[in-house]
Amino acid sequence: SSIHTLLKQLPKCEHHIHLEGALSPQLLFQLAEKNTITLPQDDEAFKTPESLLERYERFTSLDDFLGYYYIGMSALITASDFEALAWDYFQHASADGVHHAEVFFDPQAHTSRNVAYPTVIQGFQAACERAEKELGITTILTACYLRHLPPAESLEMFQSPEVQESYRNGTVKGIGLDSSEMNFPPHLFEDLYRGAKELGLRRTAHAGEEGPVSYISSALTILNAERIDHGIQLAQDDVLLKQIADQGTLLTVCPLSNVVLRCVKSVSEVPIRKFLDHGVKFSLNSDDPAYFGGHILDNYCAVHDAFELSVSEWESVCRAGIEGSWCSEERKTEML
Ligand code: ADE
Ligand code: ZN
Repeated sequence: SSIHTLLKQLPKCEHHIHLEGALSPQLLFQLAEKNTITLPQDDEAFKTPESLLERYERFTSLDDFLGYYYIGMSALITASDFEALAWDYFQHASADGVHHAEVFFDPQAHTSRNVAYPTVIQGFQAACERAEKELGITTILTACYLRHLPPAESLEMFQSPEVQESYRNGTVKGIGLDSSEMNFPPHLFEDLYRGAKELGLRRTAHAGEEGPVSYISSALTILNAERIDHGIQLAQDDVLLKQIADQGTLLTVCPLSNVVLRCVKSVSEVPIRKFLDHGVKFSLNSDDPAYFGGHILDNYCAVHDAFELSVSEWESVCRAGIEGSWCSEERKTEML
């Protein structure tokens, strides 16, 4: 319909996409074969790309998904594997009308299986350069730290010479916090976020996806996060909601992810209308497109089907996404 044409044409920014979550079952099997990586034999889901995709329709929680997500990325070994993965994502993003993409990756999930950090960076950086040149998409790489691992390990990673170099030379501009949320509160990572702020890095954190709304306030006050990833539990606390609206903090909302991981029963339960009515800024994002059955435009369409935003509301969602991006002011002006 014409609204879907409009949604495609709007100048979209994506702020919440894990590149490892863009690994399609097809590419996963192809890379596993090339790299002679054995996939779990005791799980029927790993028989074929088709059976794996079917299993992705039956996630029961964030942790159920993460089990598959960490096995999937075990197929990624060489710089060209990481480049192929990111390039696959950028092509989808371009087809969906993304102008600017701020993409997450999980360094610890690769170094822990002896894939060197510079290998990961080399592949992703090559895809980012190609996306800028061939697709006109500007990009920012953000390194997420895994909250289910000991905070000391995240600090060790952060302080390692290769990681420091990628921050110093501007290849990686931000940090995030992801993986299992429940029982891993933000305050555990206070030292990491202090270090990132001292280096002048941008800071975001997953909070209020499955976890309580108190994780959102501590991500803001203890971690000094500039953005909140997901943040849907904010609807439970009207005082904090008003504060976040007043501050203009951007939430990076991922509606299809929330349904597939059972944080909500349907897209209509994502508090989009409440956020709009109270002036809470948010962008719409795919999170892990290969696992959750859709890219960014599918998320826009699902929100439209559930909430029927007006054209001017859609324009203001995209404007909030541009203004809340971490690109240069010059680039923002180009997109507005
Ligand atoms: N890692 C990849 N996707 C994630 C999500 N939705 N929440 C937490 N960690 C993740
Ligand atoms: Zn996420």
